[in-house]
Amino acid sequence: MHQVELKKIKIKAEKEIKEADSLKKLDEIFREYLGQKGILSNLTKSLSKLPKKKRASFGKEINAFKVELEMALEKKKKLLKERLEKEMMEKEWIDVTLPGKKIVPGHLHPLTQVQREVGEIFQQMGFSIVEGPEIETEWYNFDALNIPKDHPARDFWDTLYLKRPKSTLKLKILLRTHTSPVQVRFMEKNHPPLRIIVPGRVFRHEATDARHEINFHQVEGLMVDKRVSLANFRAIVEEFFLRFFNKKVKIRLRPSFFPFTEPSLEVDISCPSCDGKKKCSFCQNKGWLEVMGAGMVHPNVFKNSGLNPRDWRGFAFGMGLERLTMVKYKINDIRLFYSGDLRFLTQF
Ligand code: PHE
Repeated sequence: MHQVELKKIKIKAEKEIKEADSLKKLDEIFREYLGQKGILSNLTKSLSKLPKKKRASFGKEINAFKVELEMALEKKKKLLKERLEKEMMEKEWIDVTLPGKKIVPGHLHPLTQVQREVGEIFQQMGFSIVEGPEIETEWYNFDALNIPKDHPARDFWDTLYLKRPKSTLKLKILLRTHTSPVQVRFMEKNHPPLRIIVPGRVFRHEATDARHEINFHQVEGLMVDKRVSLANFRAIVEEFFLRFFNKKVKIRLRPSFFPFTEPSLEVDISCPSCDGKKKCSFCQNKGWLEVMGAGMVHPNVFKNSGLNPRDWRGFAFGMGLERLTMVKYKINDIRLFYSGDLRFLTQF
């Protein structure tokens, strides 16, 4: 009777081990047969109920089966582990020869790029880069630059004034309308000879359109020495444009007016787009583009900066960075720079 039962158990165990497809299943089988309350331990316990004669031989059989079972489980376990490993290797196989995912690097805004380029060119010509505050006093933005109160010239610059708590100084503060105040700030603290350029943000209270923005950037230039003339100015800007556009552009100086320079000029360059042939929409078939205001530093500006106008001569210029970038890359709307439009920005 017992033998028959053991045989059935053996067959069942064999079948279960054969069909087991996971380590978890094997574990269950182990517990079912070999666990403390498992089938085999129950069988062993039931030995006492057998007639003495049979006990020994049946006991041996159970033990043999136990060893057999343990071996079978171990073998299957090894097999399953191997299979699992193989599957994992296949699933997680990495083809190291595949092309990698391309990382798209960020890049600088076109205005930043051009500002740096302009800075580099002037540095090569001995100019230092200097910066000044975007919030200015009326003194530096106007008075010191020979633009007195109530002078009609103030209307050139539509100014954004800032509110100031009543208790503090009477001086009005404003968002600088140009980078020229840095001329005065620098000359106050540094003794000539000096050569600087001042890139920076400026603000004007204007309606925006394709050519005007409420805030934009300028690059101011200033060179002061014992003997500096407009000839020096001409040579330097010519060299600058040659390097900036990578080709020779013609320069035209036209008389103009700024309160802080005397004489004052407007600088035109031959349109780099049509080489001055008057055949392109960019210069509206004029062949020339207006790019900067300039002139010889006015004696009053020297005085207001603590320098004796008898001792020093200087030229100053100011150009719009957006304008320069637009000319270089043939961009027709200034608003694109601040639009954050990736279709525009990724082209640079
Ligand atoms: N500050 C002037 C402007 O904003 C430009 C300029 C700078 C002119 C220096 C002459 C000399 O228009």
